[in-house]
Amino acid sequence: MAAAPGRRLPAALLCAALCLGAALAVDRSNFKTCEQSGFCRRQRGLSPGQSPYRALLESLQLGPDAARIQLINEATKVPLLLELWGLQGNMTRIRIKELNPLRPRFEVPDVLVAEPPVERLAVTGRDEGSLELSLGPAGHRLLVTEKPFRMDLLQGRELLCSVNARGLLFFEHLRQRRDSDTPREPTAEEGAAAEGQDEAAGGAEEAGDQSEKPTETTAEAAEEPGSWEETFKTHTDTKPNGPTSVGLDFSLPGFEHVYGIPEHAESLRLRTTEGGDPYRLYNLDVFQYELYNPMALYGSVPLLLAHSARRTLGIFWLNAAETWVDISSNTAGKTLFGKLLDYMQGGGETPQTDVRWMSESGIIDVFLLLGPAPAAVMGQYAALTGTQALPPLFALGYHQSRWNYNDEEDVAAVEKGFEEHAVPCDVLWLDIEHADGKRYFTWDPSKFPRPRAMLEQLAAKKRKMVSIVDPHIKVDSGYRVHAELRSRGFYVKTKDGSDYEGWCWPGSAAYPDFTNPEMRAWWASMFAYDQYEGSTETLFTWNDMNEPSVFSGPEVTMHKDAVHYGGWEHRDVHNLYGLYVQMATAEGQIQRSGGQHRPFVLSRAFFAGSQRYGAVWTGDNTAEWEHLKISIPMCLSFGLAGLAFCGADVGGFFKNPDAELLVRWYQAGALQPFFRAHAHMDTARREPWLFGEDNVALIRGAVRLRYALLPFWYTAFYHSHRHGLPIMRPLWMEYPEDTTTFAIDDQYLIDRALLVHPVTEQGARGVQVYLPGKGEVWYDTVSYQKHHAPQMLYVPVTMSSGPMFQRGGTVVPRQERVRRSTECMQGDPFTLYVALSPQGTAEGDLFLDDGKSFDYETKARFLHRQFTFAGNTLTARYPPPP
Ligand code: NOJ
Repeated sequence: MAAAPGRRLPAALLCAALCLGAALAVDRSNFKTCEQSGFCRRQRGLSPGQSPYRALLESLQLGPDAARIQLINEATKVPLLLELWGLQGNMTRIRIKELNPLRPRFEVPDVLVAEPPVERLAVTGRDEGSLELSLGPAGHRLLVTEKPFRMDLLQGRELLCSVNARGLLFFEHLRQRRDSDTPREPTAEEGAAAEGQDEAAGGAEEAGDQSEKPTETTAEAAEEPGSWEETFKTHTDTKPNGPTSVGLDFSLPGFEHVYGIPEHAESLRLRTTEGGDPYRLYNLDVFQYELYNPMALYGSVPLLLAHSARRTLGIFWLNAAETWVDISSNTAGKTLFGKLLDYMQGGGETPQTDVRWMSESGIIDVFLLLGPAPAAVMGQYAALTGTQALPPLFALGYHQSRWNYNDEEDVAAVEKGFEEHAVPCDVLWLDIEHADGKRYFTWDPSKFPRPRAMLEQLAAKKRKMVSIVDPHIKVDSGYRVHAELRSRGFYVKTKDGSDYEGWCWPGSAAYPDFTNPEMRAWWASMFAYDQYEGSTETLFTWNDMNEPSVFSGPEVTMHKDAVHYGGWEHRDVHNLYGLYVQMATAEGQIQRSGGQHRPFVLSRAFFAGSQRYGAVWTGDNTAEWEHLKISIPMCLSFGLAGLAFCGADVGGFFKNPDAELLVRWYQAGALQPFFRAHAHMDTARREPWLFGEDNVALIRGAVRLRYALLPFWYTAFYHSHRHGLPIMRPLWMEYPEDTTTFAIDDQYLIDRALLVHPVTEQGARGVQVYLPGKGEVWYDTVSYQKHHAPQMLYVPVTMSSGPMFQRGGTVVPRQERVRRSTECMQGDPFTLYVALSPQGTAEGDLFLDDGKSFDYETKARFLHRQFTFAGNTLTARYPPPP
């Protein structure tokens, strides 16, 4: 939730004025379109055509692992360095950077879990104009064409992906500012040409590269106005490094369906962006976001998946700067190479999707994840960026939040409400009003005078609490956190070297530089019980506003010319900031327990790799049916990008849901990995029992189903943690050849065994459910009725039901004695639901541990049982080693 930028109003006032009063629609004028973003405009101004780049094939250096080839922009003579790797596990890495940059360019740290192990490369073919490299044992070959430069990745005779086939490689090199620049609009072609200029080429020559000197004419080409300074609304971005963007295109023959690149309020299947804006990846606090559009939201994962009945492929664009992604669709038959492909594949037009990435700074560092199965692509991405952290068990229970529970009495009353109405609940949440004047790590002395006692009372009922800790720190010399951050020099700086300050909830606030490892260590230390006074081991953390949100900043975020650790501009690191906040907080929770306990941290902003640190949610949605509906594709997209622990505010954040919407939202939310009700401070109270007996019974039913399925959820999280698979899965992930599933995003699988279709239509009497799998059967989990697949089934619904089916051939563990919280259910018996395949067999598993420590990892203290049903016998055994 954000307020209007640029207005220095007290936060409470801003909220009263803006949060609920007006019609609920985003103010688009607060956020840039591609046309208003200088680099996006310059990149997009370049139309497909012949690339000015040539690969200097004679410069090839083939190391034991990587191949390095110089590229030259023929118009400007500025040399780039292309590096190629074949990575173990069916991946290819392509990196393009300046051969001799004027200054270092930002390369994203801390996202890859390790340097990925490489395959041995070999030159397998060569002629005057091209070079063929083999990329390892899977039979992948990379054809590098000299002029115009392009690359084609093949497996056998199948073309998987072409790079720069549309000639959109556009690399703006670092340069000195020249006062003589004539301010005039260049043509797109000049824009492309102007990106290679004199100084870097001079440097390249000194380094003995094989490029030629820049020509006079191109070296004199003027820069587009705005290249060295850019103004949006009242904000000026002084761009000390000038234009620095990078862009590249990828052609995907045979693919018509692409997914991923969260976060957008969008259907699961991405749309083409022709005629509109590209999808934007720039972590932003967007007030009252709109549905079905490509605008940026709170988090970014630059991973795009392409899927066809033949195979799945991923493009991971590792760049943390503002990024735009264009998607277009045509046929490969229109290009020369497409014709060749048509010929090779026996004629007919091949569908093709083209994807173009454009980032404001950094380098081109891209991983092609070659699958071929969807699960293999997920595994490849997980091998690079890590898997979902295994949460503590309580975090899979139900979370009750609102902005705000007023005081300790209110907390006690709400807790009692759950008790009295027999609705299970694991966690109560405190939003920003709990802190003393929005000074995080403190408690309001009049409303929360005895936080420890409050936590102990909750703990006595085996419930936990989460408090919010935002990354904007009130500028107040009497506030210890601020004083320390300031004196240690840990704040982000302005371009002039002073502490960067902006306006946020506490009024004037400064922003800890989470990109600084020392600062992160200090932040982590703040979660020690003696530092965060009143905290106990049952208090966990919510990191909000970590895009970062700056009410007074451009697009409600930090100025791009602010300066971080190592001298990097905010421009370079923007999309990483939120990940670092969650990382440091999770580390703090681990440390406070002496390394014993798993953390729980919810974060609003995220980047690739955030899955290693906790949960994420879809931010400030609205109590409307369309928002309920979109929570499904949004969470499915998060899952495809590795963020398995996702949820949406149950009930909707803005506005007041009626009882029907609230009940349906509980039913849907109970089937999403992170299950939390939350609401804006100006909404009416909406604890489940405030909606009458009938409705509380319906809500109780939904929450109890969640708890009954806890062993299944926990085991699903374990699978995700081990193998990197999403927990909420689009149907095509399990049925990759079934084209009917490719655009379905109103139903999904939980792990691989349960298929759900939450009711998201007002007044619904029934829903159409697609049951996939030729020759498979599905069982209605309420009536146990068996249905043959594939088929489209009309399922009548009542207010108490939402369609759920168990896949024939699976075993689902449940705990039927539902109690007040997950902790209370530890040690209770399990019930196995064995749903037989048509062959009379079934398989499943169950993972159990203490639900909170790292002992499963460090001391192998866990129980993992594989169940097999065959020949009328159920067998339990240890699963085979991975
Ligand atoms: C914005 C968050 O998205 C919302 O959930 C929270 O209640 C408000 N900030 C206040 O902290």
